[in-house]
Amino acid sequence: MPYAGLVRTVTVSLGNRSYAIRIGRALIGRLGKECEALGLGRRCVLITDANVARHYLEPARIALATAGFSVEAIVLSPGESTKNLRTVQACYNRLSRARLERSSFVVALGGGVIGDLAGFVAATYLRGISFVQVPTTLLAQVDSSIGGKVGVNLASGKNLVGAFHQPRLVLADVDALKTLSDREFRAGLAEVIKYGIIFDSDLFERIERVLPRIMVRDPRVIAEIVARCCEIKASVVSKDETEGGLRAILNFGHTIGHALEAMGRYRKYLHGEAIAIGQVAAARISSRLLGLPESDADKICHLFERVGLPTKSPLSARQLRRVLEIMSLDKKVAGGNVRFVLVRRIGEAVYGQRVPENVLMESLKQQTGPLSKS
Ligand code: GLY
Repeated sequence: MPYAGLVRTVTVSLGNRSYAIRIGRALIGRLGKECEALGLGRRCVLITDANVARHYLEPARIALATAGFSVEAIVLSPGESTKNLRTVQACYNRLSRARLERSSFVVALGGGVIGDLAGFVAATYLRGISFVQVPTTLLAQVDSSIGGKVGVNLASGKNLVGAFHQPRLVLADVDALKTLSDREFRAGLAEVIKYGIIFDSDLFERIERVLPRIMVRDPRVIAEIVARCCEIKASVVSKDETEGGLRAILNFGHTIGHALEAMGRYRKYLHGEAIAIGQVAAARISSRLLGLPESDADKICHLFERVGLPTKSPLSARQLRRVLEIMSLDKKVAGGNVRFVLVRRIGEAVYGQRVPENVLMESLKQQTGPLSKS
């Protein structure tokens, strides 16, 4: 009999590396059964952070142990500053002490930082072992746990060391979202809204309609929305795993967003907050260059406002210049040119768009509020 808490299974189709994303309720309790069904080796290391561990480490550990797995847990400090090569090295040592073999696996239990780091450890230990993603934040459930981008930060920038290493399974348990802070939850919604803007106008309208249910974290409504986002991400990744083209549409709002995050030294904005501002800026640029109706750009801005996300970032002239400089160092630069993802209309994105400097500057000035002289 199918499990009643399961709302949907979405497949990422990548030949013999295809995998399922399961979305539903109380899925952490089924982690062991799911890993067993995949035929994974009996030993695993579960990597998580102290915040997540407080709520979900024991349920996850018990689920794995009950299915006969031997589990070693690594509990890291929460936050972006953990995502570095020093932590990776410490994890390798623990994996080797736990005698992990080629058939063993890593479980990433947490948000984007844990998923990226644990995935990178799995991608590189013994030249690559299996890993399972158990995302516990909204952002990780709809975006970072899917698609195999794993990696860590260097002092000189975010995600500069990494790999493509697909998980064997993603278990998105929407019940885990109830312990997220309001700020984290809202930041995750920036990625959710992104899917509506770039791919699915019906999703965008549904979010507009059911936002009050989303904001009170109604698990049924959220599971449906998360499932739709996962379907979109899975379909994009299945067509373009390594971002040769189409996958770039997932970066809508990220060029300006990443620059704002870096400007604020990753302390001022959460990723979702920075890309909300970035998406509004990209929508305004889209109106100038691709004919996106101004009323649609207004709708986009208004939806972010209703969620309680920032849509502007007041910057001085000096800070604005710095944002432009950071953008030119972004990973998405090709041949020295920053390329943007823009939208022709809500639901249809185009990637690789060159934006003339004057248009970029004017739109940034709008987004960054009145400038001071400094
Ligand atoms: N987060 C963007 C991607 O996975 O490609």
